[in-house]
Amino acid sequence: MKKKKIGILNGGGDVPGLNAVIASIVKTANNFDYDCIGFLKSYEGLLDDNCDVPLNLRNVWEITGKGGTILKSVNKGRFSGKIGSGDINSIDPMILNLAKNNLEKLDVETLIVIGGDGTLSSALQLQDIGVNIIGVPKTIDNDIRETDMTFGFSTSVDIIVDMIDKLRTTASSHDRVFLVETMGRHTGWLALYGGLSAEADMILIPEIKFNYESIIKSIRKNKEEGKHYQIIVVAEGAQVDGSKVYRTEMQKQESLFGGITNLITHHVANELGDDFELRNMILGHVQRGGAPVSSDRILSQRFGEAAVHAVVNKQFGKMVALRGSKIELVDLKKAVESIKTVDPESDIVKTCRHLGISFGD
Ligand code: F6P
Repeated sequence: MKKKKIGILNGGGDVPGLNAVIASIVKTANNFDYDCIGFLKSYEGLLDDNCDVPLNLRNVWEITGKGGTILKSVNKGRFSGKIGSGDINSIDPMILNLAKNNLEKLDVETLIVIGGDGTLSSALQLQDIGVNIIGVPKTIDNDIRETDMTFGFSTSVDIIVDMIDKLRTTASSHDRVFLVETMGRHTGWLALYGGLSAEADMILIPEIKFNYESIIKSIRKNKEEGKHYQIIVVAEGAQVDGSKVYRTEMQKQESLFGGITNLITHHVANELGDDFELRNMILGHVQRGGAPVSSDRILSQRFGEAAVHAVVNKQFGKMVALRGSKIELVDLKKAVESIKTVDPESDIVKTCRHLGISFGD
């Protein structure tokens, strides 16, 4: 008898732990007598010839601890279901139907889509034309609703902490104020968790409006209290005078941020004068690089295994999610309705404030 088939694709920025999800899906599927097909380069792989690869135990062996993704990824293309953080983009029906037909030709019963908010929103449009979908939440930004955490986030936080620990020695030698820019697009999770773990003096995030006066006051106060060097962690999506800082004018459309620490450093240095020396560092894509930490390897494998169970139980239209210590199935549509932002009144923000970390507000 012909085995049933599961299709797997990942989309958007790569994340440490992606390979662990893929391997876990293939291993679990094998136990339930399903075959797996991987699609290369995200949804593009559903449209182009020669972009489907059979995945079996042999080709996922030893990839759980490896960073990147064996399926490659793109965050552009013909399948863009969301622009920026919220506006739904209707995918061309011809493109959607071509993808559906190709899946049918390959006898794929269910497509497991591993992605962030944008990739999962596109999956919903495929579901609307009758493709069986299961979602797996993926992003270093940790901004997907309905799940306590996404895989990749912990690894990224560890990288940020490692980088700041390294900066600390040189900042200390030169008595400098260092502004460290993290990723995180529309949310401050990476800056918040990275900043708290790395004992930052200040954390600037999109969810808490900062002002230059408070930043300058706080830097002066820290120095008076004996801090001869300081670390300020800034989320790339924070706003300067009400506007975000895009990498380039062209990348505005894609909500690609970068360079906010250049602006803040420049402004604050001018105000502080010669008493302080400021430098900034944009961490960039290294935050998504390298091997996943153990907690991400575990979460990824739990997600992969749960996604196959959802396929077996025909729980289509669901996303696997971490809720407390359990992996549960949640409504995919609800999960991508909006993104999960940092609550300025949350316990973790209060903890930071009580430890003396300023938010520049
Ligand atoms: O969403 C994940 C993310 O890494 C963001 O933190 C960052 O803003 C963006 O992707 C970078 O995208 P790209 O890889 O296209 O530069």
